[in-house]
Amino acid sequence: MAIVQNWLPPSREHWETVCYIWQFFPLITAAQWVLDWYPQGKTSIDSRFNIPGKIGWATMESAGFLTLSYIMYSLPGELGIEQLPWGNWIMAGCFVVHYLYRAVLAPLYLNPSMSPIHPFVWLLAFGFQIFNATSIGGWLAGYGPTTVQDWAGRYWAMEIGLVIWAWGLMANIFHDDDLRQIRRAADRKQRAEAEKLGKSPEGVDKVYMLPKNGLFKYVLHAHYLCEWIEWAGYWMIGGWNCHPARAFLVNEITTMLPRALQGKRWYEKKFGKDKVGSRKAVIPGLV
Ligand SMILES: NC(=O)c1ccc[n+]([C@@H]2O[C@H](COP(=O)([O-])OP(=O)(O)OC[C@H]3O[C@@H](n4cnc5c(N)ncnc54)[C@H](OP(=O)(O)O)[C@@H]3O)[C@@H](O)[C@H]2O)c1
Repeated sequence: MAIVQNWLPPSREHWETVCYIWQFFPLITAAQWVLDWYPQGKTSIDSRFNIPGKIGWATMESAGFLTLSYIMYSLPGELGIEQLPWGNWIMAGCFVVHYLYRAVLAPLYLNPSMSPIHPFVWLLAFGFQIFNATSIGGWLAGYGPTTVQDWAGRYWAMEIGLVIWAWGLMANIFHDDDLRQIRRAADRKQRAEAEKLGKSPEGVDKVYMLPKNGLFKYVLHAHYLCEWIEWAGYWMIGGWNCHPARAFLVNEITTMLPRALQGKRWYEKKFGKDKVGSRKAVIPGLV
């Protein structure tokens, strides 16, 4: 059953259009190289249109795994495919696992606080999710490999890709958690002091410190780097010709690299260049 006829799930023609347009997403995010205006996270602004951070992240990021899941559920039947090969389901599973963490667990259960998001950033991220999930979902649910033979001969590459994907995800979570730990520790300290003084704690919104553990010793956005490694592994599972996985990786890097450079400027301004030291923005020894 189609939710939006020929779009959700997409017809082959519409899927090809989505994949074509999706390649040009880096042109939109190129604005980040010249603009410092990015009303989210560290650089969030006061605006009456702001969306609370946790709700914003949960809603914009859920769009992706819900769209992909629906395409996996509905498209094969429409195309008369009885059973998709297990490689397709593994890739769909990896995608859903990542976004259950990113869209549900992290914002709603794990993160102590998240800065508000301007609707402009929310819309761009929502659009990212819909395009990406349609591109990958269409490939996995009928327009890419549809038989076990389509995957044959590349099991070794799939296995290595899966291992890289899993390590990338775990390392991304580890470094995300290092940032959480800063606010958890601040929260504990505030609560202890507030109890002594008989006051209520101030809250840990906008409490920032320089992260130090793991790859944060070398780069200020170690969690970004690990996420890129994760999705590079994902592309390897799908293979060189899996253009949706390639577009995903390219679009993530072209969005997150200028953001990381902006983040480095922010850290230097807040803590001083001497405190930041020789740490790079996101790739050790390079940028
Ligand atoms: N940004 C993107 O374009 C993008 C795209 C795809 C995937 N992701 C992934 O999504 C995750 C979050 O991305 P993000 O850009 O929101 O990361 P981020 O700016 O580093 O923020 C992550 C979380 O940690 C807090 N935080 C950040 N720096 C901190 C510090 N120095 N001290 C204490 N707390 C700190 C943030 O609080 P505040 O919200 O209050 O700043 C937020 O809750 C990452 O794992 C990233 O790989 C991001």
